[in-house]
Amino acid sequence: MSPRQTLAGKRLLLIVGGGIAAYKALDLVRRLKERGASVHAVLTAAGARFATPLSLAALTGEPVRENLFSLTDDARMGHIELSRDADLIVIAPATADLLAKAANGLADDLASTLLLATDKRFVAAPAMNLRMWLHPATQRNVATLVAEGARFVGPNDGEMACGEFGPGRMAEPLEIVAAVEAALASPTAIPLPAGVGVRASSGPLAGKRVVVTSGPTHEAIDPVRYIANRSSGKQGNAIAAAAAAAGAEVVLISGPVGVAFPAGVEIHRVETAMEMLDAARRALPADIFIAAAAVADWRVAAPAKGKLKKGANGPPRLELVENPDILATIGGLGANRPALVVGFAAETSDVVLNARKKLASKHCDIVVANDVSPENGVMGGDENTVHLVDAKGVDSWPKLRKEEVAGRLVEALARRIGGPVK
Ligand code: C5P
Repeated sequence: MSPRQTLAGKRLLLIVGGGIAAYKALDLVRRLKERGASVHAVLTAAGARFATPLSLAALTGEPVRENLFSLTDDARMGHIELSRDADLIVIAPATADLLAKAANGLADDLASTLLLATDKRFVAAPAMNLRMWLHPATQRNVATLVAEGARFVGPNDGEMACGEFGPGRMAEPLEIVAAVEAALASPTAIPLPAGVGVRASSGPLAGKRVVVTSGPTHEAIDPVRYIANRSSGKQGNAIAAAAAAAGAEVVLISGPVGVAFPAGVEIHRVETAMEMLDAARRALPADIFIAAAAVADWRVAAPAKGKLKKGANGPPRLELVENPDILATIGGLGANRPALVVGFAAETSDVVLNARKKLASKHCDIVVANDVSPENGVMGGDENTVHLVDAKGVDSWPKLRKEEVAGRLVEALARRIGGPVK
């Protein structure tokens, strides 16, 4: 029987330090994943001598990061983002060196830089020789980290690889899992002092919560194939960035995209329409909901468990079922409906007419309509020509960069929602 999904949807960043206990980190990954967590792993240089990147990648199902200055990694996810994307950081095994770096703010490799740059708390499972653990320097570092909100699990007493007996053995994977569950039961975000941070405390959307859906969705056909579309996520990203710059608290729910996410917004990565709907519901209550995602209209009724094979029977027949309409669902909510619900209408003909229909059918206050005929290069491009359609009429804007469209849209929303004017 598989264990209860106590970590469903939780994103964990696992830092694997150097030590013989690193082999247990592999079992830990398995235990975390079977409880529903996703795990990104970072290996220190010493960690890589005990656990191979390959085995960690195979078990986490994610690329393993080792270097601070790996351009290929950074193109996908910078170290700041990597450190903030997780709900919680787990250090297992936590070496004396890692703890010393964390307690003293050193940042000379990827793991220590992540620990300094992160906005989340960590759970550490120390493993080291007992004299190293009992050394006043280590104990001082642990006390400092605990005072700052870190949690420790272990070390346990026992016989060590070096032959000595005492405290120093890394806690067992299930003990670490329990510590992770306990840590996640309380807020894991490290607050910034008032008045700093990317989020403006003033601005036309100050005090408002904005939820943005963005990017495409991927609907699985089998474990390796999916149905998708050409949405880049650029427009949704730009809207999230503009709303954050206007002082809003922003949640960006994004399908798989290749562009970097804006700073200062809470990111929820999803793959499918069903996951996007779930994330959107969970992000409520909000003041403004903006559906900029290009959600797949259909999903495969029963995705194949194994890779579909070419064969004598010819191409497989895919039975499709309709996905829920996220915008219509949120627009149609009763008490929990955001005050402003904004949809997009990507059309190739009768742009404004179709947008008007969507205004009613999807219960939104505004539809941002754009012509996505291939000759306009909107999908994946940097510019957009849109019409703002609401119950009163149409406001057509000239061709603008997506960032400018986002800025103007946010201004229009701020005017309607009546936030304090700058
Ligand atoms: O019907 P159509 O896909 O053209 O509607 C586009 C608008 O509806 C966009 O705002 C899109 O984000 C939203 N939508 C949605 N869920 C769907 C389909 C579309 O939220 N399943």
